[in-house]
Amino acid sequence: MTVHFIGAGPGAPDLITLRGRDLIAACPVCLYAGSLVPEALLAHCPPGARIVNTAPLSLDEIMAEISAAHAAGQDVARLHSGDLSVWSAMGEQLRRLRALGIPFDVTPGVPAFAAAAAALEAELTLPGVAQSLVLTRTSGRASSMPEAESLENFAATGATLAIHLSVHVLAEVQARLIPRYGADCPVAVVFRASWPDQRVIRATLGSIDPAIGVGERTALILVGHALGAQDFDESRLYAGDYDRRYRPVGTDPRFPETA
Ligand SMILES: C[S@@+](CC[C@H](N)C(=O)[O-])C[C@H]1O[C@@H](n2cnc3c(N)ncnc32)[C@H](O)[C@@H]1O
Repeated sequence: MTVHFIGAGPGAPDLITLRGRDLIAACPVCLYAGSLVPEALLAHCPPGARIVNTAPLSLDEIMAEISAAHAAGQDVARLHSGDLSVWSAMGEQLRRLRALGIPFDVTPGVPAFAAAAAALEAELTLPGVAQSLVLTRTSGRASSMPEAESLENFAATGATLAIHLSVHVLAEVQARLIPRYGADCPVAVVFRASWPDQRVIRATLGSIDPAIGVGERTALILVGHALGAQDFDESRLYAGDYDRRYRPVGTDPRFPETA
């Protein structure tokens, strides 16, 4: 018996890995984390599967579900939105499973930031503009931020920021970032990336209307000069005079191994 933690992707039901889909189909128990996991994914569960929305459950209750499946020798598909490496609460579940000696494995998923970048048709690491992406959030009711991980500190690097769980405090984000990035820095808010009702708002830090975030939850704020920049260097990787293993300069033909 194994608990399969599966990244369910950002919303579109076809943005799950083939491995994740096949594991869902093979498990007689499916625990899924609430409304961010698309219900259409549950159609992959086998007939008669026990399907439980864990959104209203406590960690103890979730572990009770898993322990019952373990006792019955039934594999579990454990679905969380996006990828499991960020803000999934997988860590605390794995700690309990290790303590109980219950086997598990992890299948990655498409994270929300990648779906948002796709909606924007944007590369977030443009040569000469930004070469780092910071996945971060502001503090919330359930989680405070470590002191050094402030928006101001990340902004001091000039990196592109993907700010999660924060659209409801857009005015605060704006006020904290304008002094570092400038009022003309591009910002994009992507609501429900990859869902049928996906919405994209592009503006600058100075012009974005903070009211767009009121009452919203499932949105990402992307900030940085890489968004919408047209005046950036071309990657050296594809430059004609760039010598690299698979395209050595000075050889004729350039691809001797395929000649
Ligand atoms: C608890 S975190 C989950 C992150 C997830 N594990 C991931 O890999 O992206 C939820 C936050 O991620 C962002 N998010 C999740 N799905 C999203 C989507 N489809 N579009 C925009 N933002 C999304 C929002 O900021 C939301 O508040």
